[in-house]
Amino acid sequence: MTFAQRLTIGQINKGNQVIYDEAASYYQQLRWFKTRLTRLEYAQTLAALLASFQFVPQRKGRYLEIGCGPGTWTKVVAPHAAEVVALDISANMIEQARRYVADASNVTFVHGDAADYQPDGQLDGFFSFRVIEYVHGWQEMLTRVSSHVAVGGRAVICTKTPISVYRGTGRERWFTTGVRRALGRLQRWLQGLPEPAGDGFWQKYVSPSAVQQTLEQAGFTDFAVTPAIFGLPIFWRGTCQYPLVPPFAEPPFMWAFEQGRKLANRLPPRLRRLSLVFSESYVLTATKR
Ligand SMILES: C[S@@+](CC[C@H](N)C(=O)[O-])C[C@H]1O[C@@H](n2cnc3c(N)ncnc32)[C@H](O)[C@@H]1O
Repeated sequence: MTFAQRLTIGQINKGNQVIYDEAASYYQQLRWFKTRLTRLEYAQTLAALLASFQFVPQRKGRYLEIGCGPGTWTKVVAPHAAEVVALDISANMIEQARRYVADASNVTFVHGDAADYQPDGQLDGFFSFRVIEYVHGWQEMLTRVSSHVAVGGRAVICTKTPISVYRGTGRERWFTTGVRRALGRLQRWLQGLPEPAGDGFWQKYVSPSAVQQTLEQAGFTDFAVTPAIFGLPIFWRGTCQYPLVPPFAEPPFMWAFEQGRKLANRLPPRLRRLSLVFSESYVLTATKR
């Protein structure tokens, strides 16, 4: 593995870099592997990734991963690729990823802000899981990266669903975020401390039609949208949930939600888009024309 480039970090995305640097040591375990619920979310997202890529053993391509984090999906794609260029704004995340994919010799890490990343050379596609919602300037980023994708190359983007039963259960919850911010400001005012610069967390929900429109203008066609994490946010110990179902009662709900995801994937495209209302995140794929 090589550590190829360091790029400058734009001021707005800097706040997210600070947060992800802090979270790097525990993010992967907490998000994907800690409980059977997060493992289900991992399995559902993995199924969506594999279905989206349509890997062909005879055609191993060169892919860019935008926001590799601790390498969760880098490790999945690397065996199917000639090369993966894994980009992240957080150096600590890249350190985690470097360890997690230590057995892959075809991964090149780049530390920098995707908002001004300029790929070198041609790509057979790019993928980005749970990242564009944190990138201020994601449209320009997708447009720039797309211009490096060869005809027939793939774009695979996973992001949080804007209109969904999961909306409002996350860190944007006004009653926790708002109160926490106000208390922080009050504390700094009482202590006579200045407001810190660049420590804000930037997040924006991005709709499938907005991603599609951006990629369409960048020369992509053949769009498909599928739910990734699918179900209802009702588990006591899940992340970003309404606490209704206790741990001992989880399995039948998990089974039902997984059946729901499989069913949604078999629906015609328009109905599948409607089914996103039960998805925490979705995957959009497209092909370069
Ligand atoms: C929610 S994590 C997802 C990580 C990984 N893709 C996954 O699904 O496990 C978001 C990742 O995007 C990275 N990120 C956020 N903003 C970025 C930016 N402007 N440029 C590059 N990476 C960024 C963060 O550092 C973090 O590793």
